[in-house]
Amino acid sequence: MGLLIVIDGPAGAGKSTVARRVAQHFGLPVLDTGAIYRTLALAARERGIAWSDEPGLVALAAGLPIRFEAASETGGPRVLCDGRDVTQAIRTPEISDGSSQVSALPAVRASLLEIQRRLGRDGCVAEGRDLGTVVFPDATHKFFLTASDAVRAARRQAELEGVALADVLRDLNRRDERDRSRAAAPMARAEDAVLVDSSDLDADAVVAAIVRAVTSRL
Ligand code: C5P
Repeated sequence: MGLLIVIDGPAGAGKSTVARRVAQHFGLPVLDTGAIYRTLALAARERGIAWSDEPGLVALAAGLPIRFEAASETGGPRVLCDGRDVTQAIRTPEISDGSSQVSALPAVRASLLEIQRRLGRDGCVAEGRDLGTVVFPDATHKFFLTASDAVRAARRQAELEGVALADVLRDLNRRDERDRSRAAAPMARAEDAVLVDSSDLDADAVVAAIVRAVTSRL
């Protein structure tokens, strides 16, 4: 297996930007596991499957026609579902909330385990919530990226158009609380994960810290 670097942490901590740049540094692909939950939520919505319908979601997840394609102009991988580009459609506040609802269901998480492990098996920089603890417990390079509420909300607001800061913060907190308190694979820092608080660090500094930590253990 190639180099596997996992970055977990709450919404808006900067995982995507950092994962992309660390991946670029090491010449690895990025695996955005949140995009898988988001795509499932979108596909369910389009097929009239409720975000609480566990058996319906499991059946959908089993054959989820998701594909990642190398970098778009914005630097992130393009996400395709059924051959359609859903890169933007999965980023709305509504789908953010849906992804957090479907991801709380244990059978849904179980059914998406294999696809995550398959996509990551040749080495990658993977970002998510339970990668160091559940999906890739044997990864040798684990990080847990956090930032203060205010910083996370401001970063997320900059990615969305016309959404008030207070609404962004409320949505982030609701998702984080759900992610942290669910019984199945809650968001957690693995014991052997390095904690990185990016509240007072810019992306360059976080990337440099992670690259240094990985390189020192190669
Ligand atoms: O990372 P992102 O915000 O795109 O993830 C969307 C949602 O998917 C999260 O709020 C979380 O509920 C869920 N998720 C998860 N486990 C992961 C990645 C994402 O439960 N490994």
